[in-house]
Amino acid sequence: MALVYIEQLEDLDVEEMQQTHEDEVILLNEIDKLATQHQMGQPTLEELNEKLDTYLIHVKEHFSNEERLMRKYDFPSYEMHKMAHDIFLEDLKYAVNQWKRSDNLDKIINFIRKSPEWIVLHINSVDAPTSAFIHQQMEREA
Ligand SMILES: [Fe+2]
Ligand SMILES: [Fe+2]
Repeated sequence: MALVYIEQLEDLDVEEMQQTHEDEVILLNEIDKLATQHQMGQPTLEELNEKLDTYLIHVKEHFSNEERLMRKYDFPSYEMHKMAHDIFLEDLKYAVNQWKRSDNLDKIINFIRKSPEWIVLHINSVDAPTSAFIHQQMEREA
């Protein structure tokens, strides 16, 4: 069983947003799987650490790209959407600091395993209307 399924997410009209979400779902499931293997004593630690670093970069790029698109197309609820990203990043940073400082993976793995709840809600209720607006603006400009 996967941690999160692409089918749980709204299909977005802005292709680059959709692709980013699909890539993130894959990463989250890979991390979950590696963490389970690590917890069962398999030698996946190095790969797990690398995957977590990849995830951190991915999330930051995911959010900053959406913010760039929102600014480019004058999305009216930019501040609200950006604040949602910033709050998530703060929580993530806290879990990452605990992981990097003490080499303890528990906090970051717990964070990752709880994150689909936030991600699915965010994509379906915040990214979806944002994508609809941006897509409309893109069509208008085309
Ligand atoms: Fe998103
Ligand atoms: Fe977003």
